[in-house]
Amino acid sequence: MTLAVDVVVMAAGKGTRMKSTRPKVLHRLGGRALAQHVIDCAAQLAARSVVVITGHGADQVEAGLQPPRPLEGQVATKLQFVRQEPQLGTGHAVQQAAPVLPADGVTLVLSGDVPLTRPDTLQALLDLCGGERLALLTLDMPDPTGYGRIVRAPTADGSGAGHGAVRAIVEHKDATPEQRAITEIYSGIMAVPTRLLSTWLARLDNQNAQGEYYLTDVVKFAVADGLDVQAHRITDAVQVAGVNSPLQLAELERAYQLRLAQGLMEQGTRLADPARFDVRGELTCGQDVEIDVNCVFEGRVRLGDGVRIGANCVIANAVIEAGAVIHPFTHIDGEKAGVSVGERALVGPFARLRPGAQLGTEVHIGNFVEVKNSTLAAGAKANHLAYLGDATVGERVNYGAGSITANYDGANKFRTVIEADVHVGSNCVLVAPLTIGAGGTIGGGSTVTKSTDPGALTVARGRQVSLRDWQRPTKKPA
Ligand code: UD1
Ligand code: MG
Repeated sequence: MTLAVDVVVMAAGKGTRMKSTRPKVLHRLGGRALAQHVIDCAAQLAARSVVVITGHGADQVEAGLQPPRPLEGQVATKLQFVRQEPQLGTGHAVQQAAPVLPADGVTLVLSGDVPLTRPDTLQALLDLCGGERLALLTLDMPDPTGYGRIVRAPTADGSGAGHGAVRAIVEHKDATPEQRAITEIYSGIMAVPTRLLSTWLARLDNQNAQGEYYLTDVVKFAVADGLDVQAHRITDAVQVAGVNSPLQLAELERAYQLRLAQGLMEQGTRLADPARFDVRGELTCGQDVEIDVNCVFEGRVRLGDGVRIGANCVIANAVIEAGAVIHPFTHIDGEKAGVSVGERALVGPFARLRPGAQLGTEVHIGNFVEVKNSTLAAGAKANHLAYLGDATVGERVNYGAGSITANYDGANKFRTVIEADVHVGSNCVLVAPLTIGAGGTIGGGSTVTKSTDPGALTVARGRQVSLRDWQRPTKKPA
């Protein structure tokens, strides 16, 4: 039987070095709050519950975090908040959570500002704990200044430090010069049987250099109780790196993006430059997808087989079907309603697709064309400088340069229906509500206010007048 896992996320600290009014753990990485990454990771581990310890900016932090989306076929992970006021140290933080941690499980302690720990690393730590041992995630650092050091017993063969059993964690400020020379540090992450954790938490004191209740003191209690303490020693520093400053946030952002880029490239997606690529949400790609430089993907975006995305596109909440091409500098944001782009459609350069834009197969949307809450059937084209809002556009319609749907009367919005095979000339205003009948033609420069019959030519503009004998005025002699 696998043990129930309850995750404690420490998030009460202030984050002074961010120099921000926003609580540190709500700063975003890959479009998600730092602490949300940690919470979502808990769902990957099929955790029973996540307890977030809040303090500084508690109201904001609690409002800014959501329960993780459960993996398929998995019981939802429960999200709880516990307040720590004032903040008297990491041990004191976990003490606040203890009353809500069931004794039958394993507690996994994480930090809300350490977003890039891999679920498989944490699973290995949980396996090492096995419901019986205290398991610590550790790492060797060239410069361990500031971190808690892993103090080990000498090995039986006298081969010395670095390999013996773990005896204690000593905080930097409490460490002797010899201990400060130790390069193996505690990452801030541990897995511990909850029944044992509770007894150890009750024994903590603050008799140390910082006058804080150190969670790390549980190690010496475990050793004193004869319990096995194990270290899972990793080499990938990014997995335990915390965010304390805008610079560190930016560094971890790049590390995260590179990780996503590598994942996509391993599946065959061709990125022009993995260093100039940003996903702030979820991007899924079919086969033979090509993405040029400086593209940003937000929310949920799906790209079908053979889709090509030109340079400098921002694409959010959209589905782009197979073979479609999005030319450079296109902005697509489906927000809640979504955007869909049909197979082999061509969009851009410099196009804007807004919520509810649904483009059919082989639709063409050209430069400086804006489409909102409109459906364009297969083969429809709007190639230059146009607006389609609240419109239903039939197959093969050609919508001329500079034409717009006047969908808003200042109070209400109305629909424009343009039936199949209509040709709308340049610079037309279609004043909704109206229907342009199938196969009809609207002469350039028309302002159309009434529905038109199928097949008809409609011209709604001043008639052209040419005066053959007209004379230009000339200057009168002085
Ligand atoms: C802690 C460890 C140290 C380890 C380091 C790794 C202790 C005593 N020390 O150091 O061994 O090398 O992490 O980064 O645990 N927090 C609270 N309430 C508090 C204090 C802290 O919620 O009262 C939160 C912070 O917001 C942060 C996390 O706990 O998310 C760690 O606190 P921080 O002060 O960064 O760690 P250190 O004490 O420096
Ligand atoms: Mg501290």
